[in-house]
Amino acid sequence: MKKPEKSSMNKFWGLDEETIFLNHGSYGATPKIVLDEQNRWMKIIEKDPVRFFEEIAPKALLKSRMAIANFVKCDHDDLALIENATSGVNTILKSLDFNIDDEILVPNHAYQACRNTVDYVAKRSGAKVITCDIPFPVYNDDIIIQRIMDCVTEKTKIALIDTVTSPTGIKMPFEKIVNLLENKGVMVLLDAAHGIGMIPLNLDEIGASFTTSNCHKWLCAPKGSAFLHVRKDLQELIHPLTISHGMTMPINDISRFRHEFDWTGTRDISAWCVIPFVISEISKMVGMTWDEIMKHNNKLIIEARKKLCEKLNINPPCPEKMLSSIATLKLNFEDFSNLSVHESDPIHLELLETYNIQVPVWYWPDPEGRYIRISAQIYNHLDEYEYLANVLENVCEN
Ligand SMILES: Cc1ncc(COP(=O)(O)O)c(C=O)c1O
Repeated sequence: MKKPEKSSMNKFWGLDEETIFLNHGSYGATPKIVLDEQNRWMKIIEKDPVRFFEEIAPKALLKSRMAIANFVKCDHDDLALIENATSGVNTILKSLDFNIDDEILVPNHAYQACRNTVDYVAKRSGAKVITCDIPFPVYNDDIIIQRIMDCVTEKTKIALIDTVTSPTGIKMPFEKIVNLLENKGVMVLLDAAHGIGMIPLNLDEIGASFTTSNCHKWLCAPKGSAFLHVRKDLQELIHPLTISHGMTMPINDISRFRHEFDWTGTRDISAWCVIPFVISEISKMVGMTWDEIMKHNNKLIIEARKKLCEKLNINPPCPEKMLSSIATLKLNFEDFSNLSVHESDPIHLELLETYNIQVPVWYWPDPEGRYIRISAQIYNHLDEYEYLANVLENVCEN
């Protein structure tokens, strides 16, 4: 089978030339110029670490928060720079006090690590976890909204809602859900791990109590760069996972929230320092605005999913308007013996080892099936999905 064409943009990333890389969604991928810029920051840190942390870092991090705030439309003082969305979810859930009269609402499509955090805080406090069943396939937003709202009781304290679900790749009607829940007095923790750089976000308008998003996924920033947005009226409830100097610093004109989140101990903060560069330079590098990048990736995933569905004779499990730049399909298998959620699906291994295609395929118990999730980023070419479809047709037949 002829190897697929690569996008002309592929040269900007250091991805393995031999691999057909269709999994931007799991960990992102960072362009070479961004890694060079991060390296430049590492050198600045080591030139004089004292001067860096005491003089340069506060200004650099303010610029990074301002760049993010401008991108996702919020006050930069309501943002904390953190390492990843998992720690964002942990920060909120571990800061809040729960008791046996509280319920935590979580849809069954939630990312497992975040679901584990919900279960952990519920177990230690006696709070009850209410799992909301969202079907998959799912054909309209109303079903999702209705299922979630049906799970709300007067005990519901917080709901963990995804912007885009990880296993099923559905763009949730999160703006409407947040509005309805917050108006009912339920705090929303918006898991926008797939958020900034993937879908337009206007945090002030959305109005969620808490939002966390990864910069290392769709913004293509270096690994370990993410943010947490906490609405002003709730900031005094929230503390970083690591308590440090900020807890007792005199307030002056800086909020306790700022003091606490701006310093959580010595660490490499080069990934955070690079964020303004990421936002301005990636757009220049590819010759598109971020809005155009998001639209391009959305268009590509729609075309890519069509190709796979046609070739494999699969009905699309959600309408195109529920797609962002990832798409999940349930493969046509009914025998699930010898498959486990804890081990790679043999199809994943065959695609990788025999055909050099990096794409997640996994077994999931509810709704039971073997799933594949494709991602579309600017470095991908439609030809790569066509190649995957042809290979997959053979692999599935065998
Ligand atoms: C919905 C969702 N939440 C949270 C995460 C966790 O992201 P991270 O590993 O960067 O913390 C992911 C990762 O894929 C995700 O898809």
